[in-house]
Amino acid sequence: MISKNQTLGEFIIENQASFRYSSGELSRLINSIRLAAKVVNHEVNKAGLVDIIGNIGETNIQGESQQKLDVYANDKFIQTLINRNIICGIASEEEDNFIAINSQDENHQNKYVVLIDPLDGSSNIDVNVSVGTIFSVYRRITELGTPVTQEDFLQKGNQQVAAGYVIYGTSTMLVYTTGDGVNGFTLNPAIGSYYLSHPNMQFPEDGQIYSVNEGNYIHFPQGVKNYIKYCQKEEGNRPYTSRYIGSLVSDFHRNMIKGGIYLYPGNSKNPNGKLRLLYECNPMAFLAEQANGKASDGFTRILDIKPTELHQRVPFFCGSKNMVEKAEEFMKH
Ligand code: AHG
Ligand code: MN
Ligand code: MN
Repeated sequence: MISKNQTLGEFIIENQASFRYSSGELSRLINSIRLAAKVVNHEVNKAGLVDIIGNIGETNIQGESQQKLDVYANDKFIQTLINRNIICGIASEEEDNFIAINSQDENHQNKYVVLIDPLDGSSNIDVNVSVGTIFSVYRRITELGTPVTQEDFLQKGNQQVAAGYVIYGTSTMLVYTTGDGVNGFTLNPAIGSYYLSHPNMQFPEDGQIYSVNEGNYIHFPQGVKNYIKYCQKEEGNRPYTSRYIGSLVSDFHRNMIKGGIYLYPGNSKNPNGKLRLLYECNPMAFLAEQANGKASDGFTRILDIKPTELHQRVPFFCGSKNMVEKAEEFMKH
């Protein structure tokens, strides 16, 4: 039963039985993410007041400059999940390698690994624009009680048991799926609880928004260029509106509510685009499909791609089903 007055805590307990692998473990995991998200939210909200904006002068493994809040959010999520002894491993966009937890302890029976983009859209922090956190959860495939290996993290997206994001926007929301639809919860900051505000979220089948960094236009494949021209053409319900925040979480969230497509194609400089398969595309693709939308690399379903490395990038086309299918048609020619 979905009720708008329900808190996230109540929702998790009530729906535990419908998880594909029912045990309290996944519930405790989501609970920890909800807690860490509150702590990060508090810090994000102080940006501008205390010395937390700007970069720290370091780069991550992918050569991107790290913002102070990237590092803060990364530490908070990792600490919260490790301290509560809920998972057996974690991989983060901000870490070179995955972290194995309690891997030497044979009594260690935790079976989930988490992959996380602790702060998505971090270049938006300095200018007071929405940012997010993206997470993805898998069951380990190696044996319980043994150290997790890279194999546990390099699973296809279709093996995810849960995925979601937090959006630190005009209000803070946690949106997630455990494979049984997508639900959105809004944080009431006065009380510190999340309430079910967006039950059973669905992408409209069609939309009129396209989101792409058009500054890269000249480097896009011809199929993408043609699709963009199609979006801009005066015909039927077109031209579409162009909206691009530069934070995947925020662009996805808007498109899921209003109907739209998000594109981060490969380009002549970076054939696989920019977005990371494990920390960004897989969780968003799982959410999209659970919300009646679609996600592909232009040709193949994102969730069917077999990852070969932790920080792998992939072109990303995601959103309302008909729009993604139309973009795929353009890619074929
Ligand atoms: P992150 O801040 O985690 O590195 O992710 C930024 C990503 C994504 O959120 C956003 O949509 C995209 O990068 C923006 O890239 P461009 O600035 O190249 O458009
Ligand atoms: Mn990101
Ligand atoms: Mn990030």
